Amino acid sequence: LWTAEKIIEDQIARVREKVGTDHVLLGLSGGVDSSVVAALLHEAIGENLTCVFVDTGLLRWHEGDQVMAMFAEHMGVKVIRVDARERFFSALEGVADPEAKRKVIGRMFIEVFDEESSKIDNVKWLAQGTIYPDVIESAGSRTGKAHVIKSHHNVGGLPEKMNLGLVEPLRELFKDEVRRIGVELGLPREMVYRHPFPGPGLGVRILGEVKPEYAQLLARADHIFIDELRKHDLYDRVSQAFAVFLPVKSVGVVGDQRAYEWVIALRAVETIDFMTAHWAHLPYEFLDIVSRRIINELRGISRVVYDISGKPPATIEWE
Ligand code: XMP
Repeated sequence: LWTAEKIIEDQIARVREKVGTDHVLLGLSGGVDSSVVAALLHEAIGENLTCVFVDTGLLRWHEGDQVMAMFAEHMGVKVIRVDARERFFSALEGVADPEAKRKVIGRMFIEVFDEESSKIDNVKWLAQGTIYPDVIESAGSRTGKAHVIKSHHNVGGLPEKMNLGLVEPLRELFKDEVRRIGVELGLPREMVYRHPFPGPGLGVRILGEVKPEYAQLLARADHIFIDELRKHDLYDRVSQAFAVFLPVKSVGVVGDQRAYEWVIALRAVETIDFMTAHWAHLPYEFLDIVSRRIINELRGISRVVYDISGKPPATIEWE
């Protein structure tokens, strides 16, 4: 019989048997899969796990602090936080094409992770949050996007270069099973049931060239949107919701002054498999609250629009 408890017990035993007293390295992204692996491995091998968390500057609002609070402070997991924001932003300077941006972000991520992990002594294993759908996806034919997704999550040629074995305790599990295990391991429900967030993060939600000031505004606007969705009990009723930064200036009046500032688009969709999706019919009163908050609280944004495109033909992300 499948129970979360049984799977955890079983995986803990398997991991212990596999790695013994060796040291294990894990790239913690803040996403559900790597977080569940961190919690599981911490149970299994405690001190012998070291996590590396790369702050790319393209994460959700305060995500780095939240990851550190939850894993390092609260659970006592060993986490190395790498502030790579400047490196990512300078690598992205002048890069406007969506696929080129994905490539730069993926390459930088591997580079930074590589550097950090080679500073840690005695590592014998690399843990990854590979889940069953990833295994199928990389076995079959794949689109450019899917390929990038994998190359972003799986850390390059590191296992061969450092002569590391792989530990992938979620390899046989589907997403909903991973979530149930996460809850059983004591991760907050709110975190485990979060909407998906793309590997390249805000990098593909800032149209065209990525700049630090755009990323900051976007992270804050996105946070306001998500915060209000939660307050209004709408978060779990949509499959994915986020803000997009449009580097377009539009005229407005803020206070009693003329403003000529950027635009934020809000996107919320309902979908089962993310292959097709409908835009979410969020209440007008709700959209009104979010729009007012974003314009009032964020200097630099003077207009908010709501995306009413279905997939197909539009994709869920704007890039
Ligand atoms: P699209 O935009 O293709 O998105 O309709 C479908 C789902 O995939 C996510 N997505 C990505 N995830 N790396 C990821 O890890 C990516 O490059 C990427 N692009 C899109 C998107 O957020 C949605 O859930």
